[in-house]
Amino acid sequence: METFVRIHQHGGPEVMQLESVELPPPSPREVRVRHEAIGLNFIDVYQRSGLYPLPLPSGLGQEGAGVVEAVGSEVTEVAAGDRVAYGNATLGAYSSARNVAADRLVKLPPQISCEAAASIMLQGLTAQYLLRRTYRVQPGDTILIHAAAGGVGLIVCQWAKALGATVIGTVGSDEKAELARAHGCDHTIVYTREKFAERVREITGGEGLPVVYDSIGRDTFLDSLSCLRPLGMMVTFGNASGPAPAIEPGALARMGSLFLTRPILAHYVARREDLLAASADLFEQVLSGAVRVNIRQRHALADVAQAHIELEARRTTGSTILLP
Ligand SMILES: NC(=O)c1ccc[n+]([C@@H]2O[C@H](COP(=O)([O-])OP(=O)(O)OC[C@H]3O[C@@H](n4cnc5c(N)ncnc54)[C@H](OP(=O)(O)O)[C@@H]3O)[C@@H](O)[C@H]2O)c1
Repeated sequence: METFVRIHQHGGPEVMQLESVELPPPSPREVRVRHEAIGLNFIDVYQRSGLYPLPLPSGLGQEGAGVVEAVGSEVTEVAAGDRVAYGNATLGAYSSARNVAADRLVKLPPQISCEAAASIMLQGLTAQYLLRRTYRVQPGDTILIHAAAGGVGLIVCQWAKALGATVIGTVGSDEKAELARAHGCDHTIVYTREKFAERVREITGGEGLPVVYDSIGRDTFLDSLSCLRPLGMMVTFGNASGPAPAIEPGALARMGSLFLTRPILAHYVARREDLLAASADLFEQVLSGAVRVNIRQRHALADVAQAHIELEARRTTGSTILLP
């Protein structure tokens, strides 16, 4: 029997229940993966709470790494015994083992552990598309990343720095500011006590930024727009404080013919060749040392409720993994 976390209703961390399930054999295009580590991500909170409603009951978790135990009859991508990871599968990663679509799996280089992979597949592939595709960061750019000491944040800081950017990062505390600076963030702003848009104007000498990466949503969205220079790109990619407010297109014109996009990872890696190319780019950054993996919290899968409590209370930094 396998351990599987399931919710039967949306709500607080207490709605997550540990259940025992017997896995059926993988279907023709599926693979059974025995998890060695599972990634915890902020989207898991939105899905648990109901901000992103799910058909219930539902599993949770989109990211994991482990060893292939069995493959369906039509699977060509991986074989039994391979070490694999995924960051955008159907829900159900919060489990000791699961069946998952073969085309979502990436084989791991020998130097990347399952724990490391479970901490970077979702957050690192997100950093990859944000910095290399949504807005392609150039040497000399100055960029703003919110929650710079978080899971996505620490990867973005390091990667953007390696690309030759000047990185401005917002953080919720002085300790987080120190951590962000140790990962390539040039200017930190404690946005819980400082007005970040004013600080950005000071830092850029009034010029504004070519891009803002905003995952906070409600509390920061409008001030983030005001940080952009004409023709700048507003990338709103999360809602840690709640959904961003509606905006009428004319406001973008008045603020300088701004671009506005609301991307999600799933669309950027929907085609398998894009998933493989983005993963190869991410692994290269990790293997070259440009991006260091930051697993700063580990919890037993059975303690997943506590892991959610800490993530929502802004008590975590870097990445969190769950161990089955
Ligand atoms: N669209 C996509 O493809 C995609 C993919 C991955 C992640 N994301 C988004 O990126 C963000 C970061 O994800 P992550 O998993 O790496 O999480 P994380 O950044 O490690 O954690 C969220 C951070 O947001 C900040 N925050 C600000 N206001 C908050 C509030 N009211 N409640 C809770 N946190 C608040 C906190 O940092 P401070 O204390 O420093 O403010 C907190 O640590 C999330 O919004 C997530 O949904 C989007």
